[in-house]
Amino acid sequence: MRRVTLTQFLIETQREHQLIQADLRLLIEVVARACKAIAIAIGKGSLAGVLGSADTENVQGEVQKKLDVISNEILLEANEWGGHLAAMASEEMDGPYAISHRYPKGEYLLLFDPLDGSSNIDVNVSVGTIFSVLHCPEGVDEPEEKHFLQAGSRQVCAGYAVYGPTTLLVLTVGHGTHCFTLDREIGSFVLTERNMRIPEDTREFSINMSNMRHWEPPVTRYVQELLAGKSGSRGKDFNMRWVASMVADVHRIMTRGGIFMYPRDARDPGKPGKLRLMYEANPMAFIVEQAGGAATDGRQRILDVKPDTLHQRVAVFLGSRNEVDVVTRYHAEGG
Ligand code: AHG
Ligand code: MN
Ligand code: MN
Repeated sequence: MRRVTLTQFLIETQREHQLIQADLRLLIEVVARACKAIAIAIGKGSLAGVLGSADTENVQGEVQKKLDVISNEILLEANEWGGHLAAMASEEMDGPYAISHRYPKGEYLLLFDPLDGSSNIDVNVSVGTIFSVLHCPEGVDEPEEKHFLQAGSRQVCAGYAVYGPTTLLVLTVGHGTHCFTLDREIGSFVLTERNMRIPEDTREFSINMSNMRHWEPPVTRYVQELLAGKSGSRGKDFNMRWVASMVADVHRIMTRGGIFMYPRDARDPGKPGKLRLMYEANPMAFIVEQAGGAATDGRQRILDVKPDTLHQRVAVFLGSRNEVDVVTRYHAEGG
Protein backbone atom coordinates (compact mmCIF):
# COMPACT_ATOMS: atom_id res chain seq x y z
CA MET A 1 0.00 0.00 0.00
CA ARG A 2 1.28 3.49 -0.84
CA ARG A 3 2.24 5.42 2.30
CA VAL A 4 0.63 8.84 2.32
CA THR A 5 2.29 11.32 4.64
CA LEU A 6 0.42 14.25 6.16
CA THR A 7 2.12 16.61 3.70
CA GLN A 8 1.13 14.50 0.71
CA PHE A 9 -2.42 14.23 2.00
CA LEU A 10 -2.69 18.01 2.41
CA ILE A 11 -1.30 18.71 -1.05
CA GLU A 12 -3.53 16.12 -2.69
CA THR A 13 -6.62 17.41 -0.88
CA GLN A 14 -5.84 20.90 -2.18
CA ARG A 15 -5.39 19.60 -5.74
CA GLU A 16 -8.64 17.65 -5.67
CA HIS A 17 -10.93 19.86 -3.61
CA GLN A 18 -9.20 23.26 -3.24
CA LEU A 19 -9.74 23.09 0.52
CA ILE A 20 -6.21 23.59 1.83
CA GLN A 21 -4.41 26.67 0.52
CA ALA A 22 -0.68 26.90 1.17
CA ASP A 23 -1.01 28.96 4.37
CA LEU A 24 -3.57 26.55 5.86
CA ARG A 25 -1.26 23.68 4.96
CA LEU A 26 1.59 25.46 6.73
CA LEU A 27 -0.63 25.98 9.76
CA ILE A 28 -1.61 22.30 9.94
CA GLU A 29 1.98 21.15 9.46
CA VAL A 30 3.24 23.52 12.15
CA VAL A 31 0.58 22.30 14.60
CA ALA A 32 1.47 18.69 13.74
CA ARG A 33 5.14 19.47 14.39
CA ALA A 34 4.28 21.06 17.73
CA CYS A 35 2.28 17.93 18.63
CA LYS A 36 5.36 15.83 17.92
CA ALA A 37 7.38 18.05 20.26
CA ILE A 38 4.66 17.72 22.93
CA ALA A 39 4.65 13.93 22.48
CA ILE A 40 8.41 13.90 23.07
CA ALA A 41 8.15 16.11 26.17
CA ILE A 42 5.39 13.90 27.60
CA GLY A 43 7.33 10.74 26.79
CA LYS A 44 10.28 11.83 28.93
CA GLY A 45 8.10 11.97 32.04
CA SER A 46 9.99 11.90 35.31
CA LEU A 47 13.33 11.63 33.50
CA ALA A 48 12.97 15.28 32.49
CA GLY A 49 11.11 16.35 35.61
CA VAL A 50 8.05 17.39 33.59
CA LEU A 51 5.38 15.65 35.69
CA GLY A 52 3.43 17.26 38.51
CA SER A 53 1.93 20.63 39.20
CA ALA A 54 3.32 23.96 38.04
CA ASP A 55 1.82 25.52 41.19
CA THR A 56 0.03 28.15 39.10
CA GLU A 57 -3.63 28.61 38.18
CA ASN A 58 -5.11 29.35 34.77
CA VAL A 59 -7.81 31.96 34.16
CA GLN A 60 -10.45 29.36 34.95
CA GLY A 61 -9.04 28.74 38.41
CA GLU A 62 -7.66 25.29 37.55
CA VAL A 63 -4.24 24.32 38.89
CA GLN A 64 -1.86 24.00 35.94
CA LYS A 65 0.36 20.97 35.45
CA LYS A 66 3.92 21.60 34.28
CA LEU A 67 3.01 19.93 31.00
CA ASP A 68 0.00 22.25 30.53
CA VAL A 69 2.42 25.16 30.56
CA ILE A 70 5.11 23.41 28.46
CA SER A 71 2.59 22.32 25.80
CA ASN A 72 1.13 25.81 25.62
CA GLU A 73 4.62 27.28 25.11
CA ILE A 74 5.46 24.74 22.41
CA LEU A 75 2.31 25.61 20.44
CA LEU A 76 2.84 29.37 20.78
CA GLU A 77 6.49 29.27 19.76
CA ALA A 78 5.87 26.95 16.84
CA ASN A 79 3.07 29.08 15.42
CA GLU A 80 3.94 32.70 16.01
CA TRP A 81 6.58 33.32 13.35
CA GLY A 82 5.19 31.55 10.25
CA GLY A 83 3.01 34.39 8.98
CA HIS A 84 -0.09 32.20 8.80
CA LEU A 85 -1.85 33.51 11.92
CA ALA A 86 -3.59 36.70 12.99
CA ALA A 87 -3.74 35.60 16.67
CA MET A 88 -4.05 32.62 18.99
CA ALA A 89 -6.16 31.73 22.02
CA SER A 90 -5.65 28.95 24.52
CA GLU A 91 -7.40 27.38 27.47
CA GLU A 92 -4.27 28.21 29.46
CA MET A 93 -4.15 31.97 28.68
CA ASP A 94 -6.39 34.78 29.93
CA GLY A 95 -7.00 36.41 26.56
CA PRO A 96 -5.94 36.39 22.91
CA TYR A 97 -2.22 36.07 22.16
CA ALA A 98 -1.19 38.72 19.65
CA ILE A 99 1.36 37.92 16.96
CA SER A 100 4.50 40.00 17.50
CA HIS A 101 5.01 42.94 15.14
CA ARG A 102 8.34 41.33 14.23
CA TYR A 103 6.43 38.77 12.17
CA PRO A 104 3.98 39.04 9.28
CA LYS A 105 0.33 38.35 10.06
CA GLY A 106 -1.90 35.81 8.37
CA GLU A 107 -5.62 35.27 7.96
CA TYR A 108 -6.29 32.56 10.54
CA LEU A 109 -7.11 32.40 14.23
CA LEU A 110 -5.83 29.34 16.06
CA LEU A 111 -7.43 28.12 19.29
CA PHE A 112 -6.21 25.21 21.38
CA ASP A 113 -6.42 23.09 24.49
CA PRO A 114 -2.67 22.39 24.64
CA LEU A 115 -2.95 19.42 26.99
CA ASP A 116 -6.30 17.76 27.38
CA GLY A 117 -6.84 15.30 30.20
CA SER A 118 -3.93 16.69 32.18
CA SER A 119 -5.20 15.09 35.41
CA ASN A 120 -4.10 11.82 33.76
CA ILE A 121 -0.55 12.88 33.05
CA ASP A 122 0.95 11.83 36.37
CA VAL A 123 -0.64 8.35 36.17
CA ASN A 124 0.65 7.64 32.65
CA VAL A 125 -2.76 7.54 30.95
CA SER A 126 -3.41 8.98 27.45
CA VAL A 127 -3.64 12.75 27.08
CA GLY A 128 -3.91 14.91 23.98
CA THR A 129 -4.03 18.29 22.24
CA ILE A 130 -7.17 19.76 20.64
CA PHE A 131 -7.18 22.64 18.15
CA SER A 132 -9.57 24.70 16.07
CA VAL A 133 -8.98 27.14 13.19
CA LEU A 134 -11.18 30.12 12.28
CA HIS A 135 -10.83 32.91 9.75
CA CYS A 136 -9.90 36.28 11.20
CA PRO A 137 -12.72 38.67 10.17
CA GLU A 138 -11.89 40.87 7.14
CA GLY A 139 -10.07 44.10 7.90
CA VAL A 140 -9.15 43.17 11.50
CA ASP A 141 -5.49 43.81 12.15
CA GLU A 142 -5.33 43.38 15.91
CA PRO A 143 -7.80 40.60 16.77
CA GLU A 144 -9.57 40.89 20.12
CA GLU A 145 -11.69 38.41 22.03
CA LYS A 146 -14.84 39.36 20.11
CA HIS A 147 -13.24 38.33 16.80
CA PHE A 148 -12.82 34.77 18.10
CA LEU A 149 -16.49 34.49 19.10
CA GLN A 150 -17.67 32.72 15.98
CA ALA A 151 -20.00 29.71 15.90
CA GLY A 152 -18.30 26.33 15.47
CA SER A 153 -19.92 25.96 12.05
CA ARG A 154 -17.44 28.62 10.87
CA GLN A 155 -14.40 26.46 11.68
CA VAL A 156 -12.04 25.97 8.76
CA CYS A 157 -10.20 23.07 10.33
CA ALA A 158 -10.14 21.13 13.59
CA GLY A 159 -8.05 18.32 14.96
CA TYR A 160 -6.70 16.51 17.94
CA ALA A 161 -3.57 14.56 18.79
CA VAL A 162 -3.72 11.61 21.19
CA TYR A 163 -0.53 10.77 23.05
CA GLY A 164 -1.20 7.12 23.81
CA PRO A 165 0.51 3.84 22.97
CA THR A 166 0.82 5.45 19.54
CA THR A 167 0.70 9.17 18.77
CA LEU A 168 -2.20 9.93 16.46
CA LEU A 169 -3.40 13.05 14.68
CA VAL A 170 -7.07 13.22 13.69
CA LEU A 171 -8.02 16.01 11.35
CA THR A 172 -10.87 17.57 9.40
CA VAL A 173 -11.02 20.49 6.99
CA GLY A 174 -14.72 19.88 6.40
CA HIS A 175 -14.28 17.02 3.95
CA GLY A 176 -14.38 13.93 6.17
CA THR A 177 -12.25 13.09 9.19
CA HIS A 178 -8.91 11.38 8.71
CA CYS A 179 -6.45 9.71 11.06
CA PHE A 180 -2.65 9.82 10.88
CA THR A 181 -0.21 7.76 12.95
CA LEU A 182 3.19 9.11 13.93
CA ASP A 183 5.99 7.02 12.48
CA ARG A 184 8.48 7.58 15.29
CA GLU A 185 11.48 6.38 13.28
CA ILE A 186 10.90 8.72 10.35
CA GLY A 187 9.26 11.45 12.42
CA SER A 188 6.28 11.99 10.15
CA PHE A 189 2.55 11.46 10.40
CA VAL A 190 1.27 8.81 7.98
CA LEU A 191 -2.36 8.47 6.88
CA THR A 192 -3.73 5.32 8.50
CA GLU A 193 -7.48 5.83 8.17
CA ARG A 194 -9.24 7.90 5.53
CA ASN A 195 -12.84 8.95 6.16
CA MET A 196 -13.40 7.61 9.65
CA ARG A 197 -17.04 6.66 10.25
CA ILE A 198 -18.80 6.53 13.61
CA PRO A 199 -21.42 3.74 13.72
CA GLU A 200 -24.93 5.19 14.11
CA ASP A 201 -25.80 2.73 16.88
CA THR A 202 -23.81 1.75 19.92
CA ARG A 203 -23.88 -0.19 23.18
CA GLU A 204 -21.23 1.89 24.92
CA PHE A 205 -21.56 5.14 26.87
CA SER A 206 -19.08 7.46 28.50
CA ILE A 207 -19.91 9.73 31.44
CA ASN A 208 -18.52 10.52 34.88
CA MET A 209 -21.13 8.63 36.92
CA SER A 210 -19.95 10.15 40.20
CA ASN A 211 -21.83 13.33 39.28
CA MET A 212 -25.16 11.55 38.82
CA ARG A 213 -26.84 13.19 41.80
CA HIS A 214 -26.14 16.62 40.26
CA TRP A 215 -27.51 15.95 36.75
CA GLU A 216 -30.61 17.41 35.14
CA PRO A 217 -33.67 15.10 34.76
CA PRO A 218 -33.25 14.29 31.01
CA VAL A 219 -29.71 12.99 31.60
CA THR A 220 -30.70 10.95 34.65
CA ARG A 221 -33.60 9.44 32.70
CA TYR A 222 -31.39 8.57 29.74
CA VAL A 223 -28.56 7.00 31.77
CA GLN A 224 -30.98 5.07 33.98
CA GLU A 225 -32.47 3.53 30.85
CA LEU A 226 -29.00 2.54 29.64
CA LEU A 227 -28.19 1.01 33.03
CA ALA A 228 -31.44 -0.99 33.01
CA GLY A 229 -30.03 -2.90 30.04
CA LYS A 230 -31.81 -5.82 28.43
CA SER A 231 -34.65 -5.92 30.94
CA GLY A 232 -35.37 -2.17 30.58
CA SER A 233 -37.02 -0.10 27.87
CA ARG A 234 -33.89 -0.12 25.65
CA GLY A 235 -33.88 -3.92 25.45
CA LYS A 236 -30.09 -4.24 25.29
CA ASP A 237 -27.12 -4.12 27.64
CA PHE A 238 -24.74 -1.15 27.55
CA ASN A 239 -21.09 -1.05 28.57
CA MET A 240 -19.41 2.01 30.13
CA ARG A 241 -15.96 3.61 29.67
CA TRP A 242 -14.59 6.86 31.15
CA VAL A 243 -10.92 7.70 30.63
CA ALA A 244 -11.32 11.31 31.84
CA SER A 245 -9.26 12.55 28.90
CA MET A 246 -11.75 13.87 26.36
CA VAL A 247 -9.37 13.10 23.49
CA ALA A 248 -9.09 9.45 24.51
CA ASP A 249 -12.83 9.06 25.10
CA VAL A 250 -13.66 10.75 21.78
CA HIS A 251 -11.03 8.75 19.94
CA ARG A 252 -12.58 5.51 21.17
CA ILE A 253 -15.93 6.74 19.81
CA MET A 254 -14.30 7.67 16.49
CA THR A 255 -12.94 4.13 16.32
CA ARG A 256 -15.83 1.92 17.46
CA GLY A 257 -18.78 4.21 18.27
CA GLY A 258 -20.31 5.25 21.58
CA ILE A 259 -21.82 8.30 23.23
CA PHE A 260 -19.75 10.76 25.26
CA MET A 261 -21.53 13.02 27.75
CA TYR A 262 -20.39 15.84 29.98
CA PRO A 263 -23.71 17.37 30.98
CA ARG A 264 -24.44 20.60 32.75
CA ASP A 265 -24.87 19.85 36.47
CA ALA A 266 -25.89 21.53 39.69
CA ARG A 267 -22.45 21.61 41.34
CA ASP A 268 -21.81 25.15 40.16
CA PRO A 269 -24.99 26.70 38.72
CA GLY A 270 -22.90 29.45 37.11
CA LYS A 271 -21.19 26.94 34.82
CA PRO A 272 -23.16 25.45 31.92
CA GLY A 273 -21.05 22.29 31.84
CA LYS A 274 -17.34 21.63 32.37
CA LEU A 275 -15.94 21.48 28.87
CA ARG A 276 -14.94 24.57 26.98
CA LEU A 277 -16.87 25.49 23.84
CA MET A 278 -14.01 27.07 21.90
CA TYR A 279 -11.17 24.66 22.70
CA GLU A 280 -12.93 21.32 23.26
CA ALA A 281 -16.60 21.13 22.24
CA ASN A 282 -16.44 22.96 18.89
CA PRO A 283 -13.41 21.17 17.41
CA MET A 284 -14.65 17.78 18.62
CA ALA A 285 -18.17 18.46 17.29
CA PHE A 286 -16.75 19.34 13.85
CA ILE A 287 -14.59 16.19 13.81
CA VAL A 288 -17.46 13.96 14.96
CA GLU A 289 -20.00 15.40 12.51
CA GLN A 290 -17.54 14.96 9.66
CA ALA A 291 -17.40 11.27 10.60
CA GLY A 292 -21.20 10.89 10.48
CA GLY A 293 -21.77 11.38 14.21
CA ALA A 294 -23.73 14.07 16.05
CA ALA A 295 -22.92 16.62 18.76
CA THR A 296 -25.38 18.70 20.80
CA ASP A 297 -25.47 20.58 24.10
CA GLY A 298 -28.72 18.72 24.83
CA ARG A 299 -30.77 21.47 23.23
CA GLN A 300 -29.06 22.43 20.00
CA ARG A 301 -26.23 21.44 17.71
CA ILE A 302 -22.92 22.44 19.35
CA LEU A 303 -21.75 23.96 16.05
CA ASP A 304 -24.71 26.40 16.13
CA VAL A 305 -24.00 27.75 19.64
CA LYS A 306 -23.17 31.45 19.41
CA PRO A 307 -20.27 32.05 21.81
CA ASP A 308 -20.41 34.91 24.34
CA THR A 309 -16.94 34.56 25.84
CA LEU A 310 -13.67 32.89 24.93
CA HIS A 311 -13.59 30.53 27.91
CA GLN A 312 -17.30 29.71 27.83
CA ARG A 313 -18.35 26.26 28.99
CA VAL A 314 -21.01 24.09 27.47
CA ALA A 315 -22.76 20.75 28.03
CA VAL A 316 -21.64 18.10 25.54
CA PHE A 317 -23.38 15.01 24.11
CA LEU A 318 -21.54 13.56 21.14
CA GLY A 319 -20.92 10.39 19.18
CA SER A 320 -23.16 7.75 17.64
CA ARG A 321 -26.00 9.65 16.00
CA ASN A 322 -28.97 7.58 17.20
CA GLU A 323 -27.97 7.82 20.87
CA VAL A 324 -27.24 11.57 20.71
CA ASP A 325 -30.72 11.96 19.17
CA VAL A 326 -32.36 10.11 22.09
CA VAL A 327 -30.74 12.16 24.85
CA THR A 328 -31.36 15.39 22.92
CA ARG A 329 -35.03 14.45 22.52
CA TYR A 330 -35.29 13.83 26.28
CA HIS A 331 -34.06 17.39 26.85
CA ALA A 332 -36.76 18.70 24.50
CA GLU A 333 -39.35 16.67 26.43
CA GLY A 334 -38.08 18.20 29.66
CA GLY A 335 -36.95 15.01 31.38
P1 AHG B 1 -8.30 19.56 30.72
O1 AHG B 1 -7.30 18.57 31.21
O2 AHG B 1 -7.94 20.19 29.40
O3 AHG B 1 -8.68 20.57 31.78
O4 AHG B 1 -9.64 18.78 30.34
C1 AHG B 1 -10.15 17.80 31.21
C2 AHG B 1 -11.53 17.49 30.80
C3 AHG B 1 -11.67 16.43 29.73
O5 AHG B 1 -10.51 16.03 29.09
C4 AHG B 1 -12.32 15.27 30.43
O6 AHG B 1 -13.32 14.71 29.62
C5 AHG B 1 -12.90 15.86 31.68
O7 AHG B 1 -12.20 17.03 31.94
C6 AHG B 1 -12.83 14.94 32.85
O8 AHG B 1 -13.53 15.50 33.88
P2 AHG B 1 -13.74 14.76 35.29
O9 AHG B 1 -12.42 14.85 35.99
O10 AHG B 1 -14.82 15.59 35.94
O11 AHG B 1 -14.16 13.34 35.03
MN1 MN C 1 -9.35 19.67 27.97
MN1 MN D 1 -6.16 21.33 28.94
